Amino acid sequence: MSLLKLRKFRALTLLFCIITFTMVLFNYTLRDPSAYFFKYAFRLSDTVFPRGPCSCRRCVAETEDDPWFAERFNQSFHPVMSRKGSVLTDDTYRWWQWLQAERQPANFTEVVDKLFQIIPDKEFYADSRPDRCRTCSVVGNSGNLKDSHYGPLIDASDFVIRMNQAPTEGFEKDVGYRTTHHLMYPESAVDLGNSTCLILIPFKTLDLEWLISALTTGTIKYTYLPVTANIKANKDKVMVYNPSFFKYVYDTWLEGHGRYPSTGFLALMFAIHVCDEVNVYGFGADHYGNWHHYWEDNLLGGAFRHTGVHDGDYEYNVTALLADKHKIKLFKGS
Ligand code: C5P
Repeated sequence: MSLLKLRKFRALTLLFCIITFTMVLFNYTLRDPSAYFFKYAFRLSDTVFPRGPCSCRRCVAETEDDPWFAERFNQSFHPVMSRKGSVLTDDTYRWWQWLQAERQPANFTEVVDKLFQIIPDKEFYADSRPDRCRTCSVVGNSGNLKDSHYGPLIDASDFVIRMNQAPTEGFEKDVGYRTTHHLMYPESAVDLGNSTCLILIPFKTLDLEWLISALTTGTIKYTYLPVTANIKANKDKVMVYNPSFFKYVYDTWLEGHGRYPSTGFLALMFAIHVCDEVNVYGFGADHYGNWHHYWEDNLLGGAFRHTGVHDGDYEYNVTALLADKHKIKLFKGS
């Protein structure tokens, strides 16, 4: 071996030893609470070089880089309701009751009280940390998922969030098979597996009463349409979308466009407030501006409506803007 090669070999060996030693030391430091010196050294380096709000390459919650996002993103609104956080301002209550105007709503506080005797009362997801990287897939129901082959990509996230009918059986290749969270309202309710969290989007007090009934006696069978009387879902994993958060999404993110936000947009907003990295699939109308579904034969008239009470174009523009600003990744499908 020439002298030059020998030197190179020695330098590489030394580098290898240094890297191995550092890794072992780092591992040891994290496991052994008695290694105070290293702990304080790391803490000091955190103060000098502050870490972001999460440990992903980019964190949704980082607001410094974008004034448009910073102006809108407000973490003081909690996406899911807790008993403590269920008090609505008069303004919010009035707006929320107006969405699907009920003639004689039951007493909201009493219904909420009853509800939290059945479902868990936790401050779910108020748990972001600099050492967490929670990845989420939000899966809308657009026909653009057909032949997309996104299934494995969707399933690779920590949270897989679906909504309304969203069948997976027979469509796994394109939409995946995991569902950790499923958003629905009484008129769009479907049965869920034991490990999936049900998130009810309530539009009226009757919807909260329906949830109580659907998980227990099954007495409510009609809202403004016939609804499923009993629902299969794990009671310990049931949550309710917070009406105050709902209004915040409408006022702040949609600036009052449409009558109220679509389930998909509410799901996306849920995700950007509880996840660190958000990947979005299955959003986008067809060429005529109609919402079509991946499980329907859209060419044979499956596309069913313009976008109803929602401003589909405005919602899509906000979604696309979030993608342009690298806050989310938007997968446009086939
Ligand atoms: O039709 P459905 O309301 O069940 O779809 C769920 C959500 O997926 C919608 O609220 C909408 O945000 C999104 N969607 C879409 N484009 C479609 C179909 C659905 O953006 N073609």
